[in-house]
Amino acid sequence: MRVVIVPDQQEMGRRAAAMIAEQMRAHAHFVLGLATGSSPLPLYRELIRMNQANELDFSGVITFNLDEYVGLPPTHEQSYRRFMDENLFNHIGIAKGFTHVPNGVAKNVNEECAAYERMIKDVGGIKCQVLGIGRNSHIGFNEPGSSLASRTRVVSLTRATIQDNSRFFARIEDVPTQAISMGIGTILDAERIIMLTYGENKADAVARSLEGPITTSVPASVLQLHPDVTWIIVEDAAGKLKLEWGR
Ligand code: GLP
Repeated sequence: MRVVIVPDQQEMGRRAAAMIAEQMRAHAHFVLGLATGSSPLPLYRELIRMNQANELDFSGVITFNLDEYVGLPPTHEQSYRRFMDENLFNHIGIAKGFTHVPNGVAKNVNEECAAYERMIKDVGGIKCQVLGIGRNSHIGFNEPGSSLASRTRVVSLTRATIQDNSRFFARIEDVPTQAISMGIGTILDAERIIMLTYGENKADAVARSLEGPITTSVPASVLQLHPDVTWIIVEDAAGKLKLEWGR
């Protein structure tokens, strides 16, 4: 694993964007895996800047997002589809048909999950997957206990995650209790993974995932099994790391 500790969120975004841009420019067609939450926002701002400065072209790019709430239509303010449209897709000239977010209101959610997996496979797999981490170390919506072999499926959210995500909803009762999420197995299939983290509240999850044993109780610890992972960590989230990590 490569671990890069940076002074601030802007630098985290710049480093991640530079890595993605380099990989993107080397491929005429590129499949990019994306995440929601506040952690990737500095990256998205930088990708938008690069696109608007004519430094990066998204016309050959297909995207797949990690997850979506079950029960929220794409137009819902808190749906991940809306989040992605507003924070990235609307600003980089990408055709909406090339952007994929699971449909949380599909009639048959299990079929939606199977179709999502098929679509990823049909385009040759994800070249680069962007991740953030939850306080309990979840990735996508793979909560502690998610199997290493898990694929895109319907998952139930833990109380801790519902609590954390309630900041975006008027009332905690409004937070969906289920989501469609790529599985740990789906994520590990990506050729490259870039994990973005900032904030003191993530320091524990970062330390347990990077320096603790590999266990499904700490979902991001399974990234230790992947041959090409880069963690870009803002200093405030690196406070509990004990090893040197090249510093
Ligand atoms: C949600 C998403 C995750 C994300 C996490 C952390 O649960 N499903 O993909 O990593 O939130 O979000 P944030 O970056 O806002 O802390």
